[in-house]
Amino acid sequence: MTQTDLVFQSYGRCCRKDEFFVDFYDFFMSSSEAIRNRFVKTDMAAQRHLLRNGVMQLILVARGMSDRKLRDLGTSHNRHNYDIDPSWYELWLNALVKTVRMHDPEFSPELGEAWRDVMKPGIELIRGAY
Ligand code: HEM
Repeated sequence: MTQTDLVFQSYGRCCRKDEFFVDFYDFFMSSSEAIRNRFVKTDMAAQRHLLRNGVMQLILVARGMSDRKLRDLGTSHNRHNYDIDPSWYELWLNALVKTVRMHDPEFSPELGEAWRDVMKPGIELIRGAY
């Protein structure tokens, strides 16, 4: 099985419970005061749904799908819009892998590395649009 297959299946196990996205934002927001501040006015229930889709987009792009939706995220997150500091994406990925470790019963260190490898090109696309 390829890395993207492994990650796709792992994500399926994680998505069974909405708690996955609750825990992700808890970890992500606790990684920095500046990040927490970005979400003070956000409807977090809606945001969790949007992220569910966003992570799927990252996986699908790694599987060869069009990156059009990621380019839109690059625009919304760039310096003219949400102004997301490029250094924050590492914290985002760390929080994601930490949440997968907590929720996927089949987690292993290799699977964690597969998640990092698979997420990387999509993250670079969004970050690169800064
Ligand atoms: C909004 C995905 C990284 C902060 C969104 C949305 C999606 C998304 C799907 C909603 C659609 C939109 O508004 O364009 C992602 C993905 C990321 C990522 C896949 C990683 C590659 C980050 C990072 C931050 C961040 C590192 C840092 C704080 C925000 C904020 C919003 C947002 C502030 C708007 C919230 C609101 O509407 O109040 N993100 N995001 N995102 N994201 Fe991200």
